[in-house]
Amino acid sequence: MMTQLQATPLRTLALSGRRGAGAAARPTAGSVRCSAAARSYSITLLPGDGIGPEVVAVAKDVLSVAGSKEGVELRFREMLMGGAALDAAGVPLPDETLAAARASDAILLGAIGGYKWDNNEKHLKPETGLLNIRAGLGVFANLRPATVLPQLVDASTLKKEVAEGVDIMVVRELTGGIYFGKPRGFGTNDKGEETGFNTEIYSAAEIDRIARVAFEVARKRGGKLCSVDKANVLEASMLWRKRVTAIASEFPDVELSHMYVDNAAMQLVRNPKQFDTIVTNNIFGDILSDEASMITGSIGMLPSASVGESGPGLFEPIHGSAPDIAGQDKANPLATILSAAMLLKYGLGVESAAKRIEAAVTETLDNGFRTGDIYSPGTIVLYLHINYEYLDSLTK
Ligand code: IPM
Ligand code: MG
Repeated sequence: MMTQLQATPLRTLALSGRRGAGAAARPTAGSVRCSAAARSYSITLLPGDGIGPEVVAVAKDVLSVAGSKEGVELRFREMLMGGAALDAAGVPLPDETLAAARASDAILLGAIGGYKWDNNEKHLKPETGLLNIRAGLGVFANLRPATVLPQLVDASTLKKEVAEGVDIMVVRELTGGIYFGKPRGFGTNDKGEETGFNTEIYSAAEIDRIARVAFEVARKRGGKLCSVDKANVLEASMLWRKRVTAIASEFPDVELSHMYVDNAAMQLVRNPKQFDTIVTNNIFGDILSDEASMITGSIGMLPSASVGESGPGLFEPIHGSAPDIAGQDKANPLATILSAAMLLKYGLGVESAAKRIEAAVTETLDNGFRTGDIYSPGTIVLYLHINYEYLDSLTK
């Protein structure tokens, strides 16, 4: 079994040759044919907590190999974040971590959080570190693709004919809305009862910029954008719908529709194939992207990219730190590996290396290898440490 296991991404990464938009073929290369080896990028790694360090270790090696095969050197610097940072430095996002992230070309994050810190005060929660790094980097646009891979259609809890061929991109607003709105806090009402409150607030400018990203994304995909809101109840959603509709005039080639979030949650499991690109606010995007992920079989499969107007992007799996399986060799590294592919494509513009990783993932699945979360009869369970070892051997 070991021998079989050693055959998979290795082969694709090492032997598939230069294809797609290789460095020399890139339109930006101009008349000077630069040596591809001159390209070098710095990557900040934020392993975080739970299964985070395990899956980031695998993705790091995959990145190195895919990069080197395309003549791109990647330099890694690991920094503390989340619960790991709380334990070592007393805060969930140390200043040095944010500074290193800002100074790098792209950031790869594992996952944060765990039972140990669940009862911490808000400013000492691992999640606060994640929200602060998103805000600190200004990465307002979060791209969460949910694609049902043909090899995994049986892993979906939906009927095969419903799940088959689903390919949705959720564009989630990431640095505004109720996650960051003020006022927020705890108080007392006029009956003397304890209250907790938050504010869902969006400015027109915040909506316009996420709408433009979503229209651009939709234009490059199936040309259909569905904006999800709660404009029958919430003022913030009424403005959202008004601004998205206004921005649509800049993208006459994209077909825009609107849907209330409760209906969208229902439609996603009723007939997910009706969706191409979805744009929505921070909290609806949080919820709907988890829902969309399950159509694909496992949340352990889904990557994400968070980008801003300038500066480095943040790339992370959409799953959490899964403390219940941490350190047991059970984690599915594919969401992080695919996030690494998004890092190469959207963060560094090295699409050829991203394609290598995607091909390696496809080949691994084609060969029948699965982690427990995506196991189906007739496939072989692949443990993370084995995965790690053979990927590691590639880099030596
Ligand atoms: C996500 C997560 C985070 C969020 C948590 C961990 C703060 O659920 O990335 O979807 O709510 O954004
Ligand atoms: Mg979430």
